[in-house]
Amino acid sequence: MHKKNHFCNQSLKDLNTFAIDVKAKKIIFAKTIKDLINISKMCNISNTPYIILGEGSNTLFLENYTGVVIINRIKGIKITEKKNFWLIHIFSGEKWHDLVKFTLNLGIFGLENLALIPGCIGSAAIQNIGAYGLEFKDFCQYVDILCFKKHTITRINKNSCKFSYRNSIFKNQYSNQYGIISVGIKIVKTWRPIIFSSFQKYITLTNITAHNIFNLICKIRKKKLPDPKKIGNAGSFFKNPIITKKKAEKLASLYPIPFYPQKDGLIKISGGWLIENYKFKNIHIGDAAIYEKQQLVLINKKNATSQEIVKLAKIIHTCVFKKFNISLEPEIDFIGPIGKIKSSDIFELKKNKV
Ligand code: FAD
Ligand code: EPU
Repeated sequence: MHKKNHFCNQSLKDLNTFAIDVKAKKIIFAKTIKDLINISKMCNISNTPYIILGEGSNTLFLENYTGVVIINRIKGIKITEKKNFWLIHIFSGEKWHDLVKFTLNLGIFGLENLALIPGCIGSAAIQNIGAYGLEFKDFCQYVDILCFKKHTITRINKNSCKFSYRNSIFKNQYSNQYGIISVGIKIVKTWRPIIFSSFQKYITLTNITAHNIFNLICKIRKKKLPDPKKIGNAGSFFKNPIITKKKAEKLASLYPIPFYPQKDGLIKISGGWLIENYKFKNIHIGDAAIYEKQQLVLINKKNATSQEIVKLAKIIHTCVFKKFNISLEPEIDFIGPIGKIKSSDIFELKKNKV
């Protein structure tokens, strides 16, 4: 039976985890690369703006979208076994957490630290998702992208993806005119568990298995982070700031802030700690609020508008800057009526590495 795959003037509320009730002129579900190419061609001809969404778990729609929102449901996983590793080719509309479970159940271990991260494979590459000592870039071999102008597909090798903390070439140079089609990852057969400092107390030498780490991480995340099915949110609203050693030492002389030294000599500090220690007293703007258990996460308690969320985020940004001299940079993507809006057009971002 033919199921309807496009909708006009419908709410995006169920298609973004912040549960923002704005409309899109058109919503189209794409199940194949051909669907995506056809939608792109149609929009190019009629000069209609379009964006691709996975699960909408890192996105804040600021207003009604005047073009086509393409919901990527291009699926498929192909595993090739080699002597010492597996190569896995995954289409971009697969859900990240489903891949983690799928590989684990096949005895392919390595992705377990990235369990329960919402969103699709395509966005995992764009965002270089990360958690508990691991990032997407640690497995990525290549990313295949579709050019929306020429409708050609190009393979971008991992070294050209310019992955860094919650960043990649797909958020910059290849941001608007390209769609992610599929990715390739490599998992080596010699499994080495990554034991993050905070779960040392739960994992002992006798029970280190990939399944145990997976279960533990799911448990920790369920405790710490709000479930988008119950409370609207997009995970961490801001990134953790990365600052110079000199700036970190100055901060540490004033406050007992936890430090996370990086390989390049810079220091990552906790944005959640900064917000928590500003001690906003029960601050909320309408239904927009700070999640008490994890203060880097902003929530939509019920019917918040994106304006309320942005207003709250701006207050947090300004107050944290005034107190700690640290400029919090948003992690999420802002979508205006015709496309993405740079966070520097919304927030007065300042350089932290000076
Ligand atoms: P979307 O919000 O749908 O899209 C994100 C951006 O990518 C948008 O600009 C969209 O236009 C673009 N895009 C999407 N797909 C394509 C494509 N195929 N081609 C081109 N552009 C595309 N992130 C982490 O890194 N670590 C975490 O631990 C983590 N925890 C989270 C916990 C919760 C409860 C929530 C709600 C979010 C969390 N996140 C985390 C953030 C989020 O899960 C990731 O950023 C995820 O990768 C977003 O996937 P998505 O498919 O929902 O992206
Ligand atoms: N902290 C506080 N108060 C808070 C939150 C954190 O004091 O409200 C301090 C604590 O010292 C805590 C430390 O910060 O021990 C680290 O906190 P947590 O483990 O919760 O991690 P995070 O730095 O807040 C980051 C990612 C998460 C990821 C976790 C686990 C970013 C922006 N966020 O959060 O990713 O799941 O680490 O590795 O890097 C996301 O990107 O959306 C996301 C949820």
